[in-house]
Amino acid sequence: MKKIPLVVGNWKMKLGLKESLKLANQLKKTVKKLRGQVEVGICPSFTSLYSVAATLAGTEIKLGAQNMFWEEEGAYTGEISPFMLKELNCQIVIIGHSERRQNLAETDQMVHQKIRRALTHQIMPIICVGEDYEQRRENKTDYVIIHQVTKALEGIEIKTADNLVVAYEPVWVIGTGQAINPSEAEHVHKLIRQTLIDLFPKEIVEQNFRIIYGGSVDSTNVTNFTDLKVVDGVLVGSASLQADEFSKIIQRVKQ
Ligand code: PGA
Repeated sequence: MKKIPLVVGNWKMKLGLKESLKLANQLKKTVKKLRGQVEVGICPSFTSLYSVAATLAGTEIKLGAQNMFWEEEGAYTGEISPFMLKELNCQIVIIGHSERRQNLAETDQMVHQKIRRALTHQIMPIICVGEDYEQRRENKTDYVIIHQVTKALEGIEIKTADNLVVAYEPVWVIGTGQAINPSEAEHVHKLIRQTLIDLFPKEIVEQNFRIIYGGSVDSTNVTNFTDLKVVDGVLVGSASLQADEFSKIIQRVKQ
């Protein structure tokens, strides 16, 4: 049986407070009753989290952050701890997005530490992995994926209540408006699943993990991915910035 699909909007550094509140309110109206058919999350910027949290209170839409630090508290100027996110009722955190790996030199080790810390606070990490264009051209996609998933997760003890998501996001299609061929995504999703099975007991992989696709997902192509047995949902960038378009995606993914 397929798991309840997950649809998460990553608003990146694209919306200020007013725009974030407007969009969250619009989504609230259009995405009224999810009735357990689809799980929806939105990830605004840090400066909008507090207000968006208030807007989402009492709704089924989950709040997510786009990053967090791996320490609990301390002298880490500019960083945000999981405890602070938890205070705002954040249930999701995106970890290791390729834009952070590229622009901020976020390493596999940092990603690993962040995942560990998120789990201690029962925040669901969305762990992003994906090859860049160069790596794809050199036929290194499989190697890169296995390496990133392994480094992110090896040695972590998964408890019964933990929920984790691995998002396959081919770096070279993010933000291009051109998603990859679903059969390529299918191949990588199977590879991620197998890598997880090499790391954890199979029941844990079945029960505690979801594997989602991200990279130029929109309402016209989303079901090409979510119809696949190995795809448990989507991480959406640009197309999550318009209420109508994001709502359409959610409606289409509903089981
Ligand atoms: P995109 O972004 O949907 O605009 O390609 C996806 C992401 O970066 O998570």
